[in-house]
Amino acid sequence: MRTRQVIRASAKINLGLNVLSRRPDGYHELESVMQQISLADLIVLEPYPDKNCRFSCTVQALSGPDNLVFKAVQLLEEKAGEKLGGVAITLYKNIPLEAGLAGGSSDAAAALIGLNRFWNLGFSKDELNNLASQLGSDVTFCLGGGTALAMGRGEIIERLPALPFFWVVLAVPKGIKILTAEAYGALDQRNFGNPVIIPLIEAIRNKSKRGILDWLQAGKTNTLETVRGPGFDKVQQLKRRLVNLGLMPLFSGSGPTLFMLFEQYSLARNVSHAINQEGDSAYLCWTMSGNEEWLDV
Ligand code: C5P
Repeated sequence: MRTRQVIRASAKINLGLNVLSRRPDGYHELESVMQQISLADLIVLEPYPDKNCRFSCTVQALSGPDNLVFKAVQLLEEKAGEKLGGVAITLYKNIPLEAGLAGGSSDAAAALIGLNRFWNLGFSKDELNNLASQLGSDVTFCLGGGTALAMGRGEIIERLPALPFFWVVLAVPKGIKILTAEAYGALDQRNFGNPVIIPLIEAIRNKSKRGILDWLQAGKTNTLETVRGPGFDKVQQLKRRLVNLGLMPLFSGSGPTLFMLFEQYSLARNVSHAINQEGDSAYLCWTMSGNEEWLDV
């Protein structure tokens, strides 16, 4: 089916993230409740009259062969056992970079799904899951989206019932970069095993909005938030400012993004506006229930 395709690549937040231990392979064993949100990049696939693929991205720095989309192409061609080519891939970035929102991982997942269809490869979900886990720890979650418990290094996914609907405000502090590998590397193992996320999973299974909000409100939700350093300290400053406004900002992934859940649109919009006015970046979006339609728009 070598016809034009437009595929959404959604961002994710970590409602809870518990780092359990450091593994011999350098990764960390974790359990995390991941949630797909509506903020998304877009990937467009079009027929291209050449044996090669053409790849371009609206962010110049991401246009090189290091991009996970490029690596997804290579993995699919390797598995198919032939050079498939003949596709122009354009990646429209919209998710902030290096923000702990799995933007790159989601692009890779969308490329796997879209190219599997574009090239008519017929690879099953299990086969795509396997390729996804080779691309990065979050890519497997991004294939299906919705709400899920991620285990292992993040690539073992157990789907959970969709989270009740919430508006989500993301606050991305200005001028801060936190590299995932550095955040994990700086963890003090005395903090491993916290937070305990079982009550959050139970509240999601019971579809209890109150239970979910109570767990989130009870305190720190993410082991990676315990890391200290210049970038992390700036996130904590923004967090304190938001807490002083009576809000409940929470840490996503390895940061630096903070997220807040709201039931009321008007409040979410006002908070978004206030964050932008202070010079940081706010994104108003909402929770999503999964990619059952294989991410079609
Ligand atoms: O899997 P991914 O390439 O996204 O991970 C980026 C880096 O984050 C890894 O190289 C590793 O240093 C760190 N990481 C980790 N434990 C995990 C996931 C990521 O230590 N579960």
